[in-house]
Amino acid sequence: MKNVLVTGGAGFIGSSFIRFLLAKYEGLTVVNYDLLTYAGNLENLKEIAHDPRYRFVKGDICDRAAVDAVLTSNEIDTIVHFAAESHVDRSILEAGVFVRTNVLGTQVMLDAAKDTGVERFVHISTDEVYGSLGTTGKFTEDTPLHPNSPYSASKAGSDMLALAYHHTFGLPVVVTRCSNNYGPYQFPEKLIPLMIINAMNDKPLPVYGDGMNVRDWLHVEDHCSAIDIVAREGRPGEVYNIGGNNEWRNIDIVKLILEELHKPESLITYVNDRPGHDKRYAMDAGKILVELGWKPAHTFERGLHDTIAWYCENTALWSRVVSGAYQEYYRRQYENR
Ligand code: NAD
Ligand code: TYD
Repeated sequence: MKNVLVTGGAGFIGSSFIRFLLAKYEGLTVVNYDLLTYAGNLENLKEIAHDPRYRFVKGDICDRAAVDAVLTSNEIDTIVHFAAESHVDRSILEAGVFVRTNVLGTQVMLDAAKDTGVERFVHISTDEVYGSLGTTGKFTEDTPLHPNSPYSASKAGSDMLALAYHHTFGLPVVVTRCSNNYGPYQFPEKLIPLMIINAMNDKPLPVYGDGMNVRDWLHVEDHCSAIDIVAREGRPGEVYNIGGNNEWRNIDIVKLILEELHKPESLITYVNDRPGHDKRYAMDAGKILVELGWKPAHTFERGLHDTIAWYCENTALWSRVVSGAYQEYYRRQYENR
């Protein structure tokens, strides 16, 4: 792992991973290849923008010629593929771009990786490909895929392609499937930052359905340390689940955020449920612990406290993000619910 291409490096997890790599390792270069969609923001990387080991290239993962050029001109040996459309609610509003970016874009990346002969292709996926759980049990790597949203279906398609390229062509692919992430720089369409920002502004907190859906939350830096270890030591062709063993009902997280910010629970507004809303996700991350020795370092209470503090300290950045096109999305998603 010497010259790393990070796709989607201007997004929430990709930018965290770039900061993580540059802080941990001296002798590597990182190229961030990102289209800068609504979710990509180079301000996420302002701390390292002038690091001589870092380079940004604006481009589309569906553009084969541009991907080839970035791989060869930077002598890339490792690809960590984050770039995706990542939000379930948007996939319900408009699925086409999810299929294009997540399925077709991944196939283009895999073909380019195969033809230039990279040493490692790390495909970043999600627990949502497994579908939904009842009140007990956890997803293991052997759980059959049963995606329920256009987002998770497109991610399952990309996982299958990545594994097929290993099986068919011997491409050294590893797949990670992680549970819900939280932390600084997350786009405020996702539960935790949306609720923090609305609470800060005394706006209603829109809880879908009865608020009893369960997610397994992991700090983004723990996700990054897991990806790093899988990239270096994971076995080609294998899938590794990543999770925090940290299940929370949505309503309890929303109440915790209100308590931290000293805001009243009267801000909570129950709205119509998300269509096809998965009830519960929970990850069994035993394989990555036993094989590679990874486990999370952050506790949720401390991580959430620090995340709330980060959003409070970075209001200027978030005011810019939630102006303009975000307002239109918010209206479309939440009006008349
Ligand atoms: P994000 O939406 O914050 O960032 C996605 C990035 O991809 C953006 O910078 C965007 O500009 C870029 N991008 C989108 N389309 C592109 C294209 N065609 N070409 C090049 N770049 C493009 O997403 P995130 O939350 O950081 O998620 C990153 C990855 O991790 C995704 O693959 C997602 O499925 C996966 N994942 C996310 C979570 C989570 O909780 N957020 C959990 C598990 C897995
Ligand atoms: P989200 O952050 O969109 O992640 P995912 O759907 O990929 O798990 O949502 C997390 C949970 O929070 C999910 O059960 C839906 C719920 N939710 C709300 O109740 N209100 C909201 O405004 C949002 C964005 C999510």
